[in-house]
Amino acid sequence: MVITKAVIPAAGLGTRFLPATKAMPKEMLPVVDKPAIQYVVEEAVGAGLDDVLLITGRNKNALENHFDRATEIETTLQAKGDLEKLRRVMYSTDLADMHYVRQGDPKGLGHAVLRAKKHVGAQPFAVLLGDDIIDGRDVLLTRMIEVAQERGTSVVALLEVDPSQIHLYGAAAVDKTDDDDVVRVRGLVEKPAAEDAPSNLAIIGRYVLQPEVFDVLEHTEPGKGGEIQLTDALQEMAAEADGPGVYGVVFRGRRYDTGDRLDYLKSIVQLAVDREDLGPQLRPWLREFASGLADEPSSGQTIDEPGVGSSQD
Ligand code: UTP
Repeated sequence: MVITKAVIPAAGLGTRFLPATKAMPKEMLPVVDKPAIQYVVEEAVGAGLDDVLLITGRNKNALENHFDRATEIETTLQAKGDLEKLRRVMYSTDLADMHYVRQGDPKGLGHAVLRAKKHVGAQPFAVLLGDDIIDGRDVLLTRMIEVAQERGTSVVALLEVDPSQIHLYGAAAVDKTDDDDVVRVRGLVEKPAAEDAPSNLAIIGRYVLQPEVFDVLEHTEPGKGGEIQLTDALQEMAAEADGPGVYGVVFRGRRYDTGDRLDYLKSIVQLAVDREDLGPQLRPWLREFASGLADEPSSGQTIDEPGVGSSQD
């Protein structure tokens, strides 16, 4: 069973980031100096998946342009002899074999994945959420592909979260296996209240799916939030008595949810302090800044002031 295709849904409205995402997909927000989507495509390619299908929505131009040639910039940099910047510009163009399909209405993650049916065909494939970054120094997708190949099943990525946070995720009921990092998924619940959650194992944005998921998604009814949920389709596959079931790889590395404003800010700091070009200056500044940080903001600015933002969710 060879897996070569990656599907990256990037058609959500990104409402938590308004107004930044009014005219630009949230997957294009820079994390240090690269858009989030480039980290995700690099991860897919690193796991051997260089056929990449992006599921896009309105404002898709920025995404397509990012993985296309930028001849004006290239010519200018070439003329200046700035080969390092030229390399950085051209890197994303040659990274993968990129394909695009539009979702139309953003009716949920399950609906977005179903749009990949024609491109993927009857092969197992990976899904990487376009706003979820896995640190390049930690291994996840390669391990998930290995487990999917060994067991012939669909595989989700699971992360242990604080119980107070589980309502933000899909939660999994699991049984142990002989592998320390692998569990069998008995059931999945999308965004449960803490008291209803079957565990504190949260589904994060990486999946390796068998093509049967498309048949299930065809009849999956809208669930939580009125959206067609991938979690609901996987729950059906996990519950099938005669099917191969669904397994989970428990990830213990670093993951950044760039679709969430606080996590986005943290991810930039965490990635930048380890960078050779920025870290040496950022680290001492950060230490000094943190040592003088009071619990309350000193300016007295409230979030409702113009220019500060007004949304708390
Ligand atoms: P999210 O639920 O985080 O995205 O979906 P969102 O709806 O854009 O976020 P907010 O809450 O409004 O800020 C996770 C991933 O699935 C994609 C998103 O682009 C994101 O990468 N997605 C979500 C789709 O492609 N289509 C959808 O209909 C929903």
